[in-house]
Amino acid sequence: MGMYMTQRKDIPILASALEHLLNGCRTTGYAPYVELVKTNLKRRIKMAVREIKPNIYSVGAIDWDRRLFDELIPLPDGTTYNAYLIKGSEKITLVDTVDPTKENELVNNLKKLGINNIDYVVANHAEQDHSGAIPKILELYPNAKVLTNPRCKDMLVDLLLVAAGKFITVNDGESISLGDKTLEFIYAPWVHWPETMLTYLKEDKILFPCDFLGSHLATSDLFVSDEAKVYESAKRYYAEIMMPFRTNIKKHLEKIKNLEIEMIAPSHGPLYNRPEFILNAYKDWISDEVKNEVIIPYISMHGSTRRMVDYFVEALIKRNIAAKPFNLTKTDIGELAMALVDAATIVIASPTVLAGPHPSVVYAVFLANALRPKTKFASVIGSYGWGGKMLEQITGMLTNLKVEIIAPLVVKGYPKEGDLNSLDRLADEIHKKHKEQNIIR
Ligand code: FEO
Repeated sequence: MGMYMTQRKDIPILASALEHLLNGCRTTGYAPYVELVKTNLKRRIKMAVREIKPNIYSVGAIDWDRRLFDELIPLPDGTTYNAYLIKGSEKITLVDTVDPTKENELVNNLKKLGINNIDYVVANHAEQDHSGAIPKILELYPNAKVLTNPRCKDMLVDLLLVAAGKFITVNDGESISLGDKTLEFIYAPWVHWPETMLTYLKEDKILFPCDFLGSHLATSDLFVSDEAKVYESAKRYYAEIMMPFRTNIKKHLEKIKNLEIEMIAPSHGPLYNRPEFILNAYKDWISDEVKNEVIIPYISMHGSTRRMVDYFVEALIKRNIAAKPFNLTKTDIGELAMALVDAATIVIASPTVLAGPHPSVVYAVFLANALRPKTKFASVIGSYGWGGKMLEQITGMLTNLKVEIIAPLVVKGYPKEGDLNSLDRLADEIHKKHKEQNIIR
C-alpha cells in the first residue's frame, strides 16, 4: 500500500470528518483521543511555507511533541527544525534541512512552492536534526550540490553516506553568487561540534547561524513575539550544548560583530527581527561576570540533608544572596543547566548511600562538570549514617571546573545545633567571596 501524505487542501475535509467522528464518540471514552488528533491537525495547518523576505522562505518543520534531544536534553517546549529556501535570480539554494523524521514536511513545503530544481544545499552543521534530510533532497533534486566546509563534508559522508562527489567545499569568508543574492560562509567551529559554520546573505542582511543563537521552542510564531519566553528557551539551549564551548562562542560573536545584520534566522525556534535581543543575551551569558547566586542541587533520603538545605537556603537569603535549590528527584536537568550559566557558586548536597553520593547527585555533578560553567566557588554539604566517601567522590568529579572549593560540611545523622552554626559559617564564607567579586550590592 502506498503512503498517503496529507495535503493542505485535505485538511478541511479531514477536520470535518473528525468532527463527525467526535460527535459519534461523545458518549464513549474515545472523545479525548479524537480531540487530540484534531489539535494535532490544527498544528499542521500552522506549518505553512512563509516568506521571510522577498524570495526567501521558511520551509522547515515544527516538532511539537519532541521531549528529549540526544536522548539526554529535555525539550519541555518541543522544537523546530528550520530550513530556508532562497530564490536567487540564477540559483536556488536550500539552507539546512530538517530532522529525518520530518523530511516529508520539508519536501511538501518545497512542492507547495513549486520548486522543481535546487542548485545548492547549504549544510551549516552535520548533526542529523539539520542534515538528516539531505539524502532525500539529493534524491529528489539530483542537480543539487551540498555547499559546506571540508570537515562538515567528511562528517556528512560518514554519518549520512552522502557521495563525496555531491559536495562543493567552501573556505572561511568565501562568497557564492546566486545571481542577485550572495551567500558568504563564516567558519564557526565548536558551536558544539567541530564543523559548524554560519551563512550570511549579504543583500538581505540575514544571518543563518543554525544552532548558534537558536532556541528549542515549538511555536507557530515566525518571528519572536514573546521575548521573555524565547529568552528562557534560548538560555536553556545555550546552557545545554554551548556553555562548554564558551570561549569559542565568544570568538564567533567577535567574528560577526561587524556584519550588518537585520535578521537572524536560526535553525531552531523563531527568527529574530530584532537581532540585538539575542546577541545581547549571548554577550551576557559568555561574559566572565557571575551573579550573586548559589545553586544547590540536592537529594535527601530521610530528611537530614533536606534540613541542612532548608537551613542553608534561609542563611543565604538573610545574607542577601540568591539561593536556588534543585531537588534532583523533581528537577528537569535543563533547569539546573540554565541556572549554572550565571551562578557564582554551586553547593552540592547529598546523603551517603552505598558508601558514596546518591546516584542522582552523581548524575547532576557529572553533567555540571561536563557543562563547564563559569562558576567560581563550590562546596559540598550532606550527611552520613556510619561512614563512606561521599565528599571525596563528589569533589573528585569536579575536574573541569575552575572553582575554589570552600570548606565542605558533612554531618553524622540529623543536623544538630552546632551543624547549623557551621552552615551559617559556610554562608558567611560565601558572602565574603561574593563581596570580593563585587557581586553583592
Ligand atoms: Fe540542532 Fe547541533 O543540532
